Amino acid sequence: MQTASVLKMQETEARQFAIPAGVHAETVVSVKHYTDRLFSFRISRPQSFRFRSGEFVMIGLPNADKPVFRAFSIASPSWDDEIEFFSIKVPDGPLTSELQKIVPGDTVLMRQKSTGTLVLDALTPAKRLFMISTGTGIAPFASLIRDPETYEKFEQVVLTQTCRDHAELAYGEELHAQAENDPLIGELTAGRLIHYSSTTREITPRMGRITRLIENGRLFTDLGIEPLNPETDRVMICGSMSMLRDVKALVESLGFDEGSHSHPGGFVVERAFVG
Ligand code: A2P
Repeated sequence: MQTASVLKMQETEARQFAIPAGVHAETVVSVKHYTDRLFSFRISRPQSFRFRSGEFVMIGLPNADKPVFRAFSIASPSWDDEIEFFSIKVPDGPLTSELQKIVPGDTVLMRQKSTGTLVLDALTPAKRLFMISTGTGIAPFASLIRDPETYEKFEQVVLTQTCRDHAELAYGEELHAQAENDPLIGELTAGRLIHYSSTTREITPRMGRITRLIENGRLFTDLGIEPLNPETDRVMICGSMSMLRDVKALVESLGFDEGSHSHPGGFVVERAFVG
């Protein structure tokens, strides 16, 4: 016998909710689970939807009259036919607790306007671009490292990702391999895109928070490159609030100034969105 609450739940699941005005209803094309905390998914791209690589957009599910929307960095480049996202799974998160259950064919809602500060236009010209990320903070860089404009503007691109354990680095490793082997992007990335990862909780050959690896110089000695220098370099930062605070303070102490659309500068920051 079914209890009243189970019946109510089934009713809610079966109910069709109207698509809110000004929102695209897109189809899930593929889903890939990396760990019990991380997954990526791709949805169809509305023809009218334009964005700049590195931006974020609001995402929701058609499961309520007023669906919960959360900001997600777009992980695919602006030329891609589909839209890719890389997400955390928060067990009691208002959106990701449900979003993690999507399968191909399901509908995902996406608001029409994208925005964000991790865009190439917010940086002044330089030789090297450092993209510093932790966890799902790699998502906007997944977009930017596959965008030819990045290589028009910078000679060398250094993408770093730090996660708690090795399994969480898989998305970034795949991404790097794909960027190297892609017939189109591979030509641009060859010898110019460097991927550098570390773990903080699982013992691996390269351990430590990125703040420490920059401060003690290991990032640069490992890669055989010059240390960060505001004369030659630009920095994009994406991670948790505390990571942003610490990396921002570190690059400011090295002489970098923060940029924006209206005032391009030496570095830009954006929170990796959660929930
Ligand atoms: P740690 O394991 O030492 O906390 P999370 O999964 O919690 O978002 O963390 C992702 C990664 O970011 C972890 O490796 C974590 O290291 C690291 N991290 C957390 N806070 C900071 C910070 N303030 N500065 C640099 N790295 C950080």
